[in-house]
Amino acid sequence: MIISYTALEEKVRSMIKPKRFIHSEGVASVSADLASRFSLDVSAARYIGIYHDAYRYSASDSSPEFCRKNGIDVFPEEEADPMLLHGALAAIHFDEDAEGSVPEYFRRAVRHHTLGSPDMGPYGAVVYIADYIEPGRKHLTDDDRKHILSADTLEDMIIRIMDMQRSYFMREGIKEAGISGKLYDFIKGGGRL
Ligand SMILES: [Fe+2]
Ligand SMILES: [Fe+2]
Repeated sequence: MIISYTALEEKVRSMIKPKRFIHSEGVASVSADLASRFSLDVSAARYIGIYHDAYRYSASDSSPEFCRKNGIDVFPEEEADPMLLHGALAAIHFDEDAEGSVPEYFRRAVRHHTLGSPDMGPYGAVVYIADYIEPGRKHLTDDDRKHILSADTLEDMIIRIMDMQRSYFMREGIKEAGISGKLYDFIKGGGRL
């Protein structure tokens, strides 16, 4: 048994800043919509969505070592910027915060919501997309949202998001994380999450 969505939501509210909590509510809601559209478990998607950023303010320089001790492989970009490990921290603490054993795919989804991964699973895809397009995100126009949501599959939505990110990275001179590139190539090669 794990605690209810409402109980988890209250816990998350006490763990993060109000603005981040509003974002998390948006992610939970968009995740539920996407799950419904693609015949996934709506309650599971909402549960993962509300929790995904619970450790957003907990990552520190000691996080890479902590993650490794808990059996999580740390990517070089996460080593360089431990804030990116907030998803990994959430994966480590999910059972404890849910006060029971969550399915493995819950942990996988939150672990990979930051950089994406071919191992993120369909619920990872849902949260990754919701994280990018939830209504509170001001970096997107309504047309951008429509463009992403008009794709026929979760995988194609991810490609549309990553293409937008890639042009942003190009403009800003940011290098894409290796694992993100692997996700992109995996989907382009016909891979399904
Ligand atoms: Fe996040
Ligand atoms: Fe987020």
